[in-house]
Formats: sequence, structure tokens, C-alpha cells
Amino acid sequence: LKPLLFPTDQPVMPEFRQIGRAGAIAGLELRLAEPAHQWLVGPRRIGKTSVAKAVLARLRKGGSIALDVDLSKLPALDQANLAGDLARQAQAADAGRPSDRVQRLSRRLRRQAAQGAGLGQTLSRLGFASDGEALAAVAALLAGADGGEPGLGAVLASLALHARATEGRTYLLLDEVQLLAEVADAARQVARWCHEPGAPIVFLFAGSEESAIAALRHRGEPLAAVGQEFQLPDIGLEDWLAGLGNRFREAGIELHREQIARMVEASGGHPRRTMMIASKLNGHHRQQAAVLTSERIVELAIHDAERDRAWR
Ligand SMILES: Nc1ncnc2c1ncn2[C@@H]1O[C@H](COP(=O)(O)OP(=O)(O)OP(=O)(O)O)[C@@H](O)[C@H]1O
Ligand SMILES: [Mg+2]
Repeated sequence: LKPLLFPTDQPVMPEFRQIGRAGAIAGLELRLAEPAHQWLVGPRRIGKTSVAKAVLARLRKGGSIALDVDLSKLPALDQANLAGDLARQAQAADAGRPSDRVQRLSRRLRRQAAQGAGLGQTLSRLGFASDGEALAAVAALLAGADGGEPGLGAVLASLALHARATEGRTYLLLDEVQLLAEVADAARQVARWCHEPGAPIVFLFAGSEESAIAALRHRGEPLAAVGQEFQLPDIGLEDWLAGLGNRFREAGIELHREQIARMVEASGGHPRRTMMIASKLNGHHRQQAAVLTSERIVELAIHDAERDRAWR
């Protein structure tokens, strides 16, 4: 699929389609690589998910396993769905490798993990000596987690085990993280892995609802003192001028700097609103370029966007 010229309803991908975000993406990647868990929180529709996905794509390119869970897209907010989603993604990312021996042991392993035994202990009790065997066990465990068994704790443990066995780290984006509070016991399970020595799993939490996120991090809550906040900076005017100028050129529309600056002024530089004006302008231009000046079309697009319910 060709990337959209003026996306307004989806994260902006791939990375090079994001206007003015190269610094933020590199900065966030560095912080995660430290490693330090990060909270990417801020107002609605400023590009948090776009930036987070770009960072994950970079980490994957570097050979890491980087998983991407949007809590608002789970069929239901419970541990089984969260664990199942993670396990399926981890499998698709090739976490672990299956082997005959492990297939035979996997049922026993899952039963024990489901009963709450630590996965590491379970593995050593079952006599897994080498990393290769541990990886295979991870694969088998993840394969069995599709139906919701053996639970979030065991899936996180298997991701950590994979990281250790491959001497790498597993990165995990939890988007719309405010919803984590609604998944029973999930914040505690996640916090437990945040504090794990060596940080085999590095978390990137993203979300918008200030009050809900504050609740998740209220004193005494498991995630209260975990990680650091990463502020997404405003996109500067120069970046908008260059980025939108190129985008319009791609659409066959030549605009003056002043006209793009006028759009950014009207949107206050808010990313989603700016793109909404740009998208409306694109439409108006196609219909009316023959009869209206560019100035008029810019004003028409701004007027249209401001009246749109999605503007708020
Ligand atoms: N760097 C960018 N360049 C151009 N447009 C952008 C950029 N970042 C965000 N946008 C605009 O904002 C919209 C929302 O982006 P995204 O979903 O990444 O934001 P968000 O902060 O995660 O939103 P939400 O609050 O809904 O989770 C995009 O569809 C696009 O219109
Ligand atoms: Mg988002």
C-alpha cells in the first residue's frame, strides 16, 4: 500500500513520512536502549503512537524483538486477551524455536506455569540446561498461550527468558496504557518485570488520558515510580514548512511558504489539526483550482477543518 499523503485517522508510517519527528524518535530510541522504561504521555493526536511505532521499527531492524500492544484494540480487557496477543506477536517475531523434546514437555511446563510457579524455576526443575533448550521452551509456552493459558505472568517470563537466552532485550509498547488499570492484576505483573535486574523487558508506555494515567501512577500503585516520562516536543514551523511543502508538491500542488505558515497558524501547530487542514486543502484544490486562488483555497480548507467535529 502507498502511504497516505495526508493521514488523519491513523499513525503516520513509515518513519520518514512523519514531519519534524526525527529528533524525538532518535531520542526515545536512545532512552530505551539505556535501558530505561519510558512513558510517552501527552495530549490527544499529537503523534505519540506514530513516534512509538517508529522506535519499535528501528529496534526490530537492530535485531530486537519489539512487540506492540494497543490495549484499546483487545477484544476484551482481561489478562487472557493481553497474554494471548503478546504470545501471538512474540511467536510471529520468532521468539524461541520449537524442538521435539520441548513439544513433549510443553504440556507439563504450561501446567506448572499456570499454577504460578516462576518460569525460570519451572525450566530448571524440568532440566533445561542450555539457552537453546530454554528458547525452545519459550516457543512451546507461547504456542500454548493462544487460548489465554498460561497467563500474563508466564508470557512475560518467557519474553524475559528469550531476551536472556539471546543476550538481547525484548521491547514492549503498551499503547493506550491508561486501560491497563482495567485489566485485573496486570499493572502488578508488568511492574514486577520493570524491576527485574538487567531489564530483560523494556517497556514503552503510551497514552493520553491524563487522569487515568495519573491513577495508574498514584502513590502506592505498582507502576507509581516506574520509568521516566518522555515529552514529545512541538513540531517547529520550519519543519512544517519543509514537510508540508514536499507533501503538497507530491500531490501536484505548489504553495507559498506564507500559505503553509497560515495553515500552521490556524491549527496552532497541532499535528492532527494541521493534517486535517492539509487534507481538506488537497480536496478543495482538486475541485476548484481552476476557479479559486490558492489563498482562497487555503482559507476554505481552514474554515472547513475548524467546523469539523474532529477538530476538537
Ligand atoms: N509527525 C507528524 N507529521 C504529520 N502528521 C502527524 C504527525 N504526527 C501525528 N500526525 C497527525 O496526527 C494524527 C494522529 O497521530 P497518532 O495516532 O500518532 O497520535 P496519538 O498522539 O497517538 O493520538 P491518540 O491521542 O489518538 O492516541 C495522524 O493521523 C496525523 O494526522
Ligand atoms: Mg495513539
